[in-house]
Amino acid sequence: MQAAEVFQDNAESWETLIFLYNSALKEVGTKLEILNDEFVHIHRYNPIEYIKSRIKSPESICKKLKRNGHDTSLENMVRYINDIAGIRIVCSFTSDIYRMAEMIGKQNDLTVLSIKDYIHHPKESGYKSYHMLVSVPIFLSDRVVDTKVEVQIRTIAMDFWASLEHKIYYKFEGNAPDYISRDLKECSEIVSMMDAKMLQLNQAILEAKARQDLD
Ligand code: GTP
Ligand code: MG
Repeated sequence: MQAAEVFQDNAESWETLIFLYNSALKEVGTKLEILNDEFVHIHRYNPIEYIKSRIKSPESICKKLKRNGHDTSLENMVRYINDIAGIRIVCSFTSDIYRMAEMIGKQNDLTVLSIKDYIHHPKESGYKSYHMLVSVPIFLSDRVVDTKVEVQIRTIAMDFWASLEHKIYYKFEGNAPDYISRDLKECSEIVSMMDAKMLQLNQAILEAKARQDLD
């Protein structure tokens, strides 16, 4: 489907907007890579396992606007849809998530618009992740445009859970049988247990190594 058809607006302004969101993904992506590289440089340690980014499809943008009771216009899309540009940072340990979040918060040219900590406050489904809505200035030839990017930070285990749950959610169009939702919730508790255990284990390994280096 053509975006211009979906939004009944002219294709040129749609393309300009998508160009801005793509530029915002590039800006934030580069920042995250630099933060990660600096961390490796100083601490010899990689807080980020991998990064995924995506631009929301016109169909999804349209669906979300309608679901939330808004007309499908470019203006509404910019105002109400916060996850047109999305970046997912996947870390090994929960401690890395908060470390990344803190580093992102300290970047002078990023404005943190909101934070949702679904790790301390998981969703009813069992979903866990740390969400930051940030705004990044995009410098064009004749103006500067602040553009929103949704940053999701999670562990590998949380990411595994969320992608499976997402697939199931779509398969059942949001109405999964009770036993599946229950099993998913149980899995989400196992994910938390595993994340806690892996963090402990990693700390024990680091301490053992530090003792060894002293000997
Ligand atoms: P959305 O309308 O889903 O974007 O929710 P929101 O605007 O209230 O924001 P929220 O921070 O709750 O969720 C934003 C994004 O987090 C979603 O687009 C998903 O990528 C992810 N997410 C939130 N809840 C769930 C969940 O229960 N399961 C999975 N798999 N992902 C979720
Ligand atoms: Mg979303």
